[in-house]
Amino acid sequence: MLWGSRFIKKLNNDALNFSSSLSFDVRLYAQDISVSIAHANMLKKIGILTKQECDDIVAGLAEIKAEIETEQWYPDSNEFEDIHSAIEKRLFEKIGDTAGKLHSGRSRNDQVATGVRLWMKEKIKELRDQINSLQHALLNAAEKHTDTIMPGYTHLQRAQPISLAFHFLAYVEMLERSKSRLNFVFSETDKSPLGCGALAGSTLPLDREFAANELNFSSLTGNALDSVSDRDYIIDFLNACSIGMMNLSRLSEELIIWSTSEWNFITMSDEFSTGSSLMPQKKNPDIVELIRGKAGRVFGNYVGLISTVKGLPLSYNRDLQEDKEPLFDSFDTYNVSLKMMAGVISSITINNERFYNELDGDFSLSTDLAEWLVTKDVPFRKSHEIVGKVVKYAEENTKKLNELSLPELKNIYDVFDESALNFFSVKDALYRKQTIGSPNPDLVRDQIKFWKTQLL
Ligand code: ARG
Repeated sequence: MLWGSRFIKKLNNDALNFSSSLSFDVRLYAQDISVSIAHANMLKKIGILTKQECDDIVAGLAEIKAEIETEQWYPDSNEFEDIHSAIEKRLFEKIGDTAGKLHSGRSRNDQVATGVRLWMKEKIKELRDQINSLQHALLNAAEKHTDTIMPGYTHLQRAQPISLAFHFLAYVEMLERSKSRLNFVFSETDKSPLGCGALAGSTLPLDREFAANELNFSSLTGNALDSVSDRDYIIDFLNACSIGMMNLSRLSEELIIWSTSEWNFITMSDEFSTGSSLMPQKKNPDIVELIRGKAGRVFGNYVGLISTVKGLPLSYNRDLQEDKEPLFDSFDTYNVSLKMMAGVISSITINNERFYNELDGDFSLSTDLAEWLVTKDVPFRKSHEIVGKVVKYAEENTKKLNELSLPELKNIYDVFDESALNFFSVKDALYRKQTIGSPNPDLVRDQIKFWKTQLL
């Protein structure tokens, strides 16, 4: 036991089970060992450990790591409070009393914060790679669909024609913001709290910079009290995962809609679809539905931890142990969801021609006609009203815009001429767009090139 001498009785078994974090923080074993090795090297540097003692500790820790990895020894959560105490106890078994010197100047409070930060740094990199892969999958799909017309919506009402490539590029940009968010979290996480002790540093001349360097941290945390009680970087991470999942969930929702018989725009690969046990004809988009569904629990993880930390006085309180399960779960869920989404997008089949006929002469071209009138010096408010009348007339006569004749148009407003009729063809609709950020296929192709060089 780490703190036995002032206690008469052992921790009650149920209380141990209730309070042990070992079943989940065992995931931090490699980071915990790295932290201990760095601390031991630092203690040697400042003369608290001899070279021999340090070598014994480091060799013992390396053996423990190998034992865990080969499952020769597995810490039992009925026996230990957490991975830190389990490893320390194992070190005692291996090298005897020298193990007791390792904890000089250290507390599990700074130890756990350092280990978690190391773990997060690795995982943030994995997530960034995973986001990149999804961006590549979207760009590859976009490349083939700069001219694949589809309806763009506001209020889920048909608004203006856009292309599938343009739609996918929206997600590429969203994903880039997710990476920026993770970059911020990385820089907040990349600070070493090791050497802050339980809450107020140490009377030993611990070289915090040396230990931070050993562990590849860019800098140190400052105030020791804050360092052991700070979980902002984890909450920031959970927030980044939540927004990331929110974005994936929106894409999932769209893919689900696009794959309905009513839309008939995409078909998901069999590899990412399931069947129904009852209805033989069904092909269900379960994978993206689950991504959408899992967003909820990732949001829950964020709300859970921020609520846990909310009322805590400084500095460390055991409540903070509740940070790990949401952290691990949000990482796992977001990571696998990104991977699944990349698979779905890479294997999707698009019904390219689906909207060509439907959108030719469609009312969603009305804005273009109103803008044409603006070039004829008609104030926009007026042109809006005129085109409104055109739409009303077409609707009443159950005609599409391209079924209207010039005399019919002129009857509504005399300025209309032959060239106005061109605006009713969807074929050129996207190419007429002139503004940066619009779905003009030439601009979209440039954007795809730009993103491909950005993402290298
Ligand atoms: N398992 C603990 C946690 O994750 C480690 C720190 C324990 N510190 C303590 N003073 N009991 O927070």
